[in-house]
Amino acid sequence: MNLAYSFEQKFGRPPRVETLAPGRVNLLGEHVDYNLGVVLPAAIDRSVTLAAAPTSDDIVILNAIDLGEQVSFKLSEIEKRCDIEGKPLPGWVLYPAGVAWSLQRAGVALCGMQAVYTSDVPIGAGLSSSAAVEVAFATTWQALSSWKLDKLSLAKLCQRAENEYVGVSSGLMDQFASACGVEGHVLCFDTRSLEWMPLELPPGTTIVIADSGIRRSLATSAYNDRRSACEQAVELLQKYLPSIQSLRDVSTVEFAAYSMYLPPEIAKRAEHVVKEIHRVDQAIIALNRGDARMFGGFMFACHKSLRDLYEVSIPQLDSLVEIARVLPGIYGARLTGAGFGGCTVNLVEEKNATSFMHGLQEGYCKKTGREAEVYLCRASGGAEARLINSL
Ligand code: GLA
Repeated sequence: MNLAYSFEQKFGRPPRVETLAPGRVNLLGEHVDYNLGVVLPAAIDRSVTLAAAPTSDDIVILNAIDLGEQVSFKLSEIEKRCDIEGKPLPGWVLYPAGVAWSLQRAGVALCGMQAVYTSDVPIGAGLSSSAAVEVAFATTWQALSSWKLDKLSLAKLCQRAENEYVGVSSGLMDQFASACGVEGHVLCFDTRSLEWMPLELPPGTTIVIADSGIRRSLATSAYNDRRSACEQAVELLQKYLPSIQSLRDVSTVEFAAYSMYLPPEIAKRAEHVVKEIHRVDQAIIALNRGDARMFGGFMFACHKSLRDLYEVSIPQLDSLVEIARVLPGIYGARLTGAGFGGCTVNLVEEKNATSFMHGLQEGYCKKTGREAEVYLCRASGGAEARLINSL
C-alpha cells in the first residue's frame, strides 16, 4: 500500500514523515518482564506503518486505514479521553492518545498532527500490535519535533501510556523490542538493569510463527491478575526473605524452601516466574554456544510451565506445540506473548522449515478443524522514522 498517497488523498498535501515500527516475538522469558527478569524477544518483519505531517494547532487527526475510521482529539484535552465532539475515544485511539499523554507528562512539547496508519501485525495475537502502534506514534512525534530521546526512554514512555492511560499493567519488553530491534538478532534485555545486547540465533536455525487464529485482548484478559499474583508472592515471601524486591531476587533454592508458605494458586504463578528466570539464564548460555537443541528444550519447558503453572495457554496453542514437537527439524516450540490465544513461536532447522510449516498447518487442521497461519519470521530492526518532505 502506498501510504504517502493515502495521506495525500485524505489531507490534500504530502506527509512529512513515514514511520515503521515492528511487532515482536518473544523466544523465552515469558511473564518475567514485570518481575524484573531477563527476556529474549526479537522485533519481527510485521509492522505498523504511519505517514504524518504536523499542524499548527493542537488537534490530532488519526485515520486508521485498516478500520476505515477517522478520529480527532485535542492535545490540550487529552486527560478527558474524548474526541473533539466530546465522544469517548474508541479503544484503538487510546494507544496513540496515551502516547501523547505520556510524552506531554514527560514535559516534551507536541505538535498537532494529521496521520494515516496501517498495520500487518495481527491484533490480539501475542505479537505486540499495540506496542508497535505506541512506538510508531512516539517515533513520529519525535521526528516532527526538536526534542530527542534515546530509544529506551521512548519505550518507557510508551509503556507508561499503556499502563496508565490504556490501563494494562504490561512490562517493558514489547515497547523495548519494537524500539530497539536489531536485524537478524534476538535481544537479550535485562528488565531490572535495563542493559541489553543483541545475540545471534544458533547457526542454521530460523523462527517460525504459527497463529492459532484465536484472539484475546490483553486488556480483557487475566493479565493484570497474573501480575498482582506475582506482587502478592513477593509481599508474602518478604517475611522470610526480607531483602527481595521482586521475584527476580528469589533463587530457585529459596523458592523451594519457602513456597509452602504461599497460597496454592500464588505459589504456582510464582513458581513459573522463578523457574522461567532461571531457564533464561541457562538459555543464554545455550545461545552463546550456538546450541539449538538445548535452547529449544527450554522453550518446550517454558510452554509446559505457562500451561500448568501460569495457566495462560489454551487447547489450540497446546495442540500447535504438541504437533510441532514431533515434526522433523523442530528444536523448540511454545506459546509467545501474554497467552490466552494468539501464536506459538518455533525454533526450526532452516533446511526443514518448509516441510515443518506444511506439517504444522496440516496437523493443526486435522486436530482442531481450524486453519493456522504459519510463516517464517525474520528478526528485524527497530522503529524508524524517515523524513520525506522537508517543506
Ligand atoms: C505482554 C506484555 C509484556 C509481557 C508479555 C508476557 O506482551 O505487554 O510486557 O509481560 O505479555 O511475557
